[in-house]
Amino acid sequence: TRRILSGVQPTGSLHLGNYLGAIMQWVEFQNTGKFFADPSSSGKEDGEEDAADDDGDGGIVVVNENFFCVVDLHAITMPQDPNELEESTLASAALYIAAGIDPEKSRVFVQSHVPAHAELAWLLNCATPMNWLERMIQYKDKAKKAGGGGDSIGVGLFTYPVLMAADILLYQADRVPVGEDQRQHLELARDIVRRFNNEYCRGNSYKARCKRAGLASRPAFTEPEAMIISPGGGGDGGTGGVARVMSLTDGTSKMSKSDPNDNSRINVLDPPDVIREKIKRCKTDSFAGGIEWDNPDRPEATNLLNIYAAVQPHRSREELYEEVKGMKWGDFKPLLADAIVAHLGPIQKRYAEVRADEGYLRRVLNEGANAADEIAQRTLKAAKVAMGFSIPK
Ligand code: TYM
Repeated sequence: TRRILSGVQPTGSLHLGNYLGAIMQWVEFQNTGKFFADPSSSGKEDGEEDAADDDGDGGIVVVNENFFCVVDLHAITMPQDPNELEESTLASAALYIAAGIDPEKSRVFVQSHVPAHAELAWLLNCATPMNWLERMIQYKDKAKKAGGGGDSIGVGLFTYPVLMAADILLYQADRVPVGEDQRQHLELARDIVRRFNNEYCRGNSYKARCKRAGLASRPAFTEPEAMIISPGGGGDGGTGGVARVMSLTDGTSKMSKSDPNDNSRINVLDPPDVIREKIKRCKTDSFAGGIEWDNPDRPEATNLLNIYAAVQPHRSREELYEEVKGMKWGDFKPLLADAIVAHLGPIQKRYAEVRADEGYLRRVLNEGANAADEIAQRTLKAAKVAMGFSIPK
């Protein structure tokens, strides 16, 4: 069994960065068993058994199990309006499905519906050194923006990456498809695994505790690997996905939900006229002689071409570049807007359908949470046995 897990925070509306950096890659993996990010660079062969893989299938038939979580516990690390959190949570789950996540093939669930996330996060909080978290770039950035620590930010923002590690480790996930900005968090999760397995999952006393609890004495956690799209876009000659989608108003900072200027991003649910207007107004440059890809002095050009390619994953980079390289911005922008509108249109239509049937959405989330809970409880028990807790009989 090969498990993958990923998640998006239900804060505000999901944008092209979330979609092209993460969700589009989830859908690709669900449907093809491959990532846009090149799996051959992972150093791990398909079907290779993991230390804590719990069904010992011998690696002949690879079964993919996909878990996609709406991480509402993460959302509250920054202030959230209690009147909006539930709606954003349902909206995010509906968008996963609208984007192509098929509940028959993948589990979709809400983080707070599976209590083991918060519980394992506590155990890991106690097993993770402070200074590992002090190094986290996102924490430093967000704390700075929120006014520099003290009483302006909660403890949760600091331990956020530990909760993220818990999300991943609970499912023994070996692959985690995310955007570039999550790389450091994934490294931390790997460090936590190594430290925990090394400290708690060795020796005869560990074996004895496992035996008493009826568990096989293997390491409690699997080391997860980040799956991040390579800079040139997706594999197999196509494009698809972008590891780092940049802001429409500044090609050097990433597209983000927290930018107060809505014109800096395209939201997946923006209507066509809004998308066209945002693209019309987006920042470009005044270089002469056409549009270029990958010129470090032209971050906006690279970003807009990346988006243009990613929303047309069936076309190669070469073909696209031939089409647009001689164009002026005024010619290219309407093409880009059309391509985005054409790609997002079916997703928006399906989103409306999913949202119209709340019974269906709730059923999917309940089934997802039940399936997730079953696996999560097994890992949580293993972690507790490793740390020496009394297990109720
Ligand atoms: P979040 O909610 O900020 O973003 C969700 C996903 O979208 C990707 N992303 C981007 N990719 C490319 N360009 C961008 N401009 C861009 N902005 C966002 C993110 O890399 C991410 O993959 N900590 C995570 C959520 C999380 C998680 C997890 C992810 C919690 N637990 C377990 C994976 C596994 C976060 O805040 O993502």
